[in-house]
Amino acid sequence: MPRDSERAEYPEHVIENRRYWDAMADQWVAAGERAWRAEAPLWGCWGIPESELCLLPQDMSGMLAIELGCGTAYVSYWLTQRGAQVVGIDNSAKQLETAQRLANEYQVALELRHGNAEELPYPDGHFDFAISEYGAAIWCDPKIWIPEAHRILKPGGELVFLGNSPLAMICTPLDGGDNDAHLHRSYFELEKLDWTRCEIDPGGIEFNLPISSWMRLFRETGFEVLDYLELQAPKGSPDRFGTPGQWAQSWPAEQAWKLRRL
Ligand SMILES: C[S@@+](CC[C@H](N)C(=O)[O-])C[C@H]1O[C@@H](n2cnc3c(N)ncnc32)[C@H](O)[C@@H]1O
Repeated sequence: MPRDSERAEYPEHVIENRRYWDAMADQWVAAGERAWRAEAPLWGCWGIPESELCLLPQDMSGMLAIELGCGTAYVSYWLTQRGAQVVGIDNSAKQLETAQRLANEYQVALELRHGNAEELPYPDGHFDFAISEYGAAIWCDPKIWIPEAHRILKPGGELVFLGNSPLAMICTPLDGGDNDAHLHRSYFELEKLDWTRCEIDPGGIEFNLPISSWMRLFRETGFEVLDYLELQAPKGSPDRFGTPGQWAQSWPAEQAWKLRRL
């Protein structure tokens, strides 16, 4: 697997997020193994079936796809099961170790690369499909990674990404505690969410935008919106990663965008 050396010119959030994910990669092994075992794709914190969300093309034969922030690479694996040839890029070498082990166990050929999804080592118009589930979708700067995803897609290629909703971010207390029914920060100032100094589970720098800013970014970059989904957790869902199941049943904790490159 091509290794990315520590790059001094990487922005602060890429360096911090590499440290954060390398340090906790061990805690994500079991979840990765479960997702590789799944018979069909299950999305997000509450495992909503692909049959409900329809995020993926049914037949990906002959497609070249990339997963941006692939982690343990189960999404990449799902794409190969639909016929695609897949590259997974991730900022954490430790996450990629798990991805490579699972790819070997499942005897699937994935090209795994260590690097930053904001600077992809591929030529313009190289891919038919790009995806991120909680990878670049939340850990990369949208003003950098969305144009970069546009650059490496062919005209007509799709970008699908899923992550925290802007609403979930403004309902997260500033100390990093569980989401609640209060608004803790300005919606209009959503952009960089720096959790490195919060009291509860400190570490990591995320990004999110108001919905109107996402829309403007897509338009200015050259993407058309095919669909925007606000995910509702199923009844009786457990609490997941600081979001009470009851909260996610009443309000959208997760968003998914389906875009087409013009
Ligand atoms: C929650 S995981 C999501 C991936 C996958 N769905 C999973 O759960 O294993 C987040 C991943 O994003 C990766 N990541 C964070 N910043 C990144 C960047 N700048 N470029 C590529 N990957 C990044 C992390 O290393 C981590 O593996």
